[in-house]
Parts: sequence; structure tokens; C-alpha cells
Amino acid sequence: MAVVTLGAHILDVLARPVPGVPAGQDTVPGEPDTVGGPGTVVVDEIRATAAGSAAGTAVALARLGNDVVSVGAIGDDDLGDLLVAIMTRNGVDVRGLVRRTAAQTAASILPIGPDGRRGGRPILHAPGANLTLTAGAVGPGLLGAARLVHLGGPDVTSGLNDPAFFAMLAAARETGTVVTMDVLSTVPGLLAGAAAFLPHVDHFLPNEAQAAAMTGEDDPEKAAGALLAQGPATVVVTLGGDGSLVATRAAGGPEVRRLPALPVDVVDTTGCGDAYCAGFVTGLAHGRDVLESARWGAAAAATVAQGLGSDACLTGLDDVLRMLK
Ligand SMILES: Nc1ncnc2c1ncn2[C@@H]1O[C@H](COP(=O)(O)OP(=O)(O)OP(=O)(O)O)[C@@H](O)[C@H]1O
Ligand SMILES: [Mg+2]
Repeated sequence: MAVVTLGAHILDVLARPVPGVPAGQDTVPGEPDTVGGPGTVVVDEIRATAAGSAAGTAVALARLGNDVVSVGAIGDDDLGDLLVAIMTRNGVDVRGLVRRTAAQTAASILPIGPDGRRGGRPILHAPGANLTLTAGAVGPGLLGAARLVHLGGPDVTSGLNDPAFFAMLAAARETGTVVTMDVLSTVPGLLAGAAAFLPHVDHFLPNEAQAAAMTGEDDPEKAAGALLAQGPATVVVTLGGDGSLVATRAAGGPEVRRLPALPVDVVDTTGCGDAYCAGFVTGLAHGRDVLESARWGAAAAATVAQGLGSDACLTGLDDVLRMLK
């Protein structure tokens, strides 16, 4: 087994285009063509996807040709069955998922605007079983047997913030396992908890808002430098449509290189960060250096931006790499 994804598992339900969410039984003034009757917005498509920084990244990794085992906690409910079915159909090994009876499967409802951006739109989110994940759910020897371990959202799966889990990570790294990490929220209190994982991480990939919240530095280069000082060899800060920056430690201070976003017709940027991580990890798995791996990440993310949902348009590694030519 090559890659273990570990952390947040969320079922996303997305709709597009949603020009406005009507208030109750009211119609949207000035939007007669998109309203199907009192309180109804007629949309082109509605999808359900496996999402969250572990599940979404696991599906993208599988699409890119990796063997993936995903570890997390979901509910023993219909949403959980659907999440398992989607992941299994995509070739992800779901034997690392534990099912909880006392908590629902985490889920989000996402209305996507006509411009493809979620800014200004509500997200309805139930954190559910992600909050119940603990180190006990991680099978013995699993991390050490993996070439790469991706921690997806330890800010929300805060039960992993446990010396027993850090000991597992340390033991795995001693036998050559490489650890990557992304975070899910922008909540300062949750992100403060995620900082405890940084000494056990090789490559950390937050977005700009998360890097700022974790460091108090609004400048992403300064934020990356502050995060590098906490342990990782590489910090990649994703900047949405402005691309990303790759910061590595060097003798005279952090070396920072910028990568542009690839020009694409954007439908929905949900899951672009997860796809970026999947492309990056795939690059590492193919022996590429961090800068080239980040290019693979940008190409996977630009692919996903062209359709609805975190797995959109992601057909395979060859198609993703063709974007870089
Ligand atoms: N409009 C866009 N056009 C092309 N590429 C984009 C666009 N938006 C994002 N990307 C790519 O996706 C990467 C990740 O995006 P972003 O910084 O928004 O991640 P994120 O906030 O973690 O997203 P999410 O949490 O929804 O997965 C960017 O670095 C960029 O390469
Ligand atoms: Mg993200």
C-alpha cells in the first residue's frame, strides 16, 4: 500500500448555479428565470461527493493512480453508506474507516454561485463523527507500511492530538514514511491544535487564510517562514486563483518560489486544495522534488476547478500532466 489518508471524511452535496438562496417561500426578486416556484431554485446539477481533507484527497489520489487506504470515523447511517460507496467505486480501500452509532457522518450542503466561487455563499456543515476519531482507530503498523501518510484536517479530527498518535507518526518516519498535512477549518482555536502536529510533518499545505490564522502573519511568505520554523521541511501555501508558493528551508532563511494557477474556465473551486494535495503527494510518490510535485498539485487543482465537486473532471494522471505541457 502506497498512501494512507487519515482524518476528515465528509459527504458534500453541491448544487449549481445558485444565484441566490431564497428566503423561505419567497421568490428571488429579479431572478425569475432561475426560480421554479415559491422558495425553489432550479439548478443545472446537484452532486454528492466524498470530500474533506482525507476522503476528498483519497479519491483524487486514487484517480491519479495511487493505492490508497483511508482512515477516519463516519456514522453508521445512510450518509456513511453513500460515502463508503463513492470511495469504494473510486478504488479507495475503506477498511480503515470506523463506523460510529452515536454520531452522524459529517456532511456539508454547498450552493455554488454562477461564478464558481463559494465566497459569500453559505455552507451548511455538520461535523459529526469526525470529532470522534482517535489514535485507537489507526491500525498497528499501518503508517509504517505506507510510503506516504497524508493527514487531512487534524484541526477537526482533534482526537488525534494525542502522544500515542505522535509516537505512531515518529515510528513510521523512522522507517522512511513521508508525512504530508493539510488543515480543514479557518477557526483559530482548532488551527492552534493542528500546530502540535507540525514537528511530525515533512510537508505542510495550508491555504492562505489558514497559514495566517496559525501564525498571525498576513503575508503568506512570512507565514510560511514561521510554519517552517515549527518543523516541516516544506510549506506550500495555496493562494486560490493566485496560485501557490513553495517555501523550503535554506541557509540564509526560507527559499520561496511562486507557482501561478493554471488558466481554466472555473465552474466550482470546491476541493481544489484537496486536489492540490493529491497531485503533490502523487509527485512525491513518483520521486519528484517538492517544486515539481507542487506543479502536479496545481494541475490537479486546476482540473477539479472545471466541474462541480471535489473530484470533478479528474480522469487520470496523464490528463493532469498534459496541462503542464
Ligand atoms: N480559479 C482558479 N483557477 C485555477 N486554479 C485554481 C483556482 N482556484 C484555486 N486553484 C488552484 O487550487 C489551489 C488550491 O486552491 P485554494 O487555495 O483555494 O485551496 P483551499 O482553500 O484549500 O480549497 P478547498 O479547501 O476548498 O479544497 C490553488 O493553489 C490553485 O493552484
Ligand atoms: Mg483546503
